[in-house]
Amino acid sequence: MEKVLTGIRPTGKLHLGHFAGALQQWLPLQQTHECFFLMADVQALTTHIGKPALIEESVRDVLLDWLSVGLDPFRANVHLVLQSHVRELFELTELLSMVTPHSWILSNPTIKTELQKLKGLISSGFMHYIVSQAGDIGFVSPDPRVDSSPILVPVGDDQEAHLRDYNRIVARFNELYGPTFVPCKGLYATMGRLVGIEGGEKMSKSAGNSIYLSEPVASLRKKVNSMYTDPKRIHADTPGTVEGNPVFIYLDAFARNLSEVEELKRRYRAGTVRDVEVKDYLFQVLNSFLTPIRERREAAERTNLYNVLMDGTAKAQVLASETIQRVEAAMHLDYKTLRR
Ligand code: TRP
Repeated sequence: MEKVLTGIRPTGKLHLGHFAGALQQWLPLQQTHECFFLMADVQALTTHIGKPALIEESVRDVLLDWLSVGLDPFRANVHLVLQSHVRELFELTELLSMVTPHSWILSNPTIKTELQKLKGLISSGFMHYIVSQAGDIGFVSPDPRVDSSPILVPVGDDQEAHLRDYNRIVARFNELYGPTFVPCKGLYATMGRLVGIEGGEKMSKSAGNSIYLSEPVASLRKKVNSMYTDPKRIHADTPGTVEGNPVFIYLDAFARNLSEVEELKRRYRAGTVRDVEVKDYLFQVLNSFLTPIRERREAAERTNLYNVLMDGTAKAQVLASETIQRVEAAMHLDYKTLRR
């Protein structure tokens, strides 16, 4: 089976934006690929230092979110992996860092932006995370002399530069030491980012504009009622704009019955439906989307979450140590000649 690897930094509960932009496309890959879903708790430290309880709690929250949307670690080909516990990753990162020109790191767009924003406060771990993420992807690489199929990486398009950096780094490694890693291939969400409930550019925990996958019914109702619609529509009987209207963006992303949505759009444009009615419809849509998620979460809360993570982590360790052996052999760090 071809391999899929992707990750999330556990820095808070997951919301509808994570579903639309990421989880949604992870789910079907479980039917066809060997999947590694990485809980990137060390990468979380690139931005969240001095908050140990927050990371700990977020690992639990994200794991419950994963299980509740239907990631299924009870399938033999699905592995939920705790990054900090695959020690081989750090060895791999260190070795890959030696073939990574510093200028590549400086020209990564995320690094560039954060350097400007955070200036002197940026940690050297943050500067390093491009290489660390290359290690995250590369550890599942098959031996390219046996199997050259690329690693599939389903991510948001904000990760595109990181995937390109992975490919450059391993190409350089292969050039210097012989074929050791296969390239990766990004699988980008068609959906893109989901706006916040106040119409802000994207849903994010820090902006306080999110609807969580674990959202209880009562607060879901409140949040939907408080959503922004068309700011220019003052009266319920004036024609409204559908494009860019958060309520319709969510309907497009989550409604099942497309003809009902089309009918609502038509009436909204004609000024024959009130905002309240559209919001009520959206509430029903989101609530029926979240109902099975809530049910699976309840079941997940009764499982031993630590064991679930450790099972996937153990599988990752096996692959990572095979990869490290291949890397060490390529770099002659296994010292075959000294041994005889
Ligand atoms: N950088 C990713 C994010 O912030 C998370 C991540 C860590 C990741 N390691 C990865 C994604 C490896 C894909 C592959 O969302």
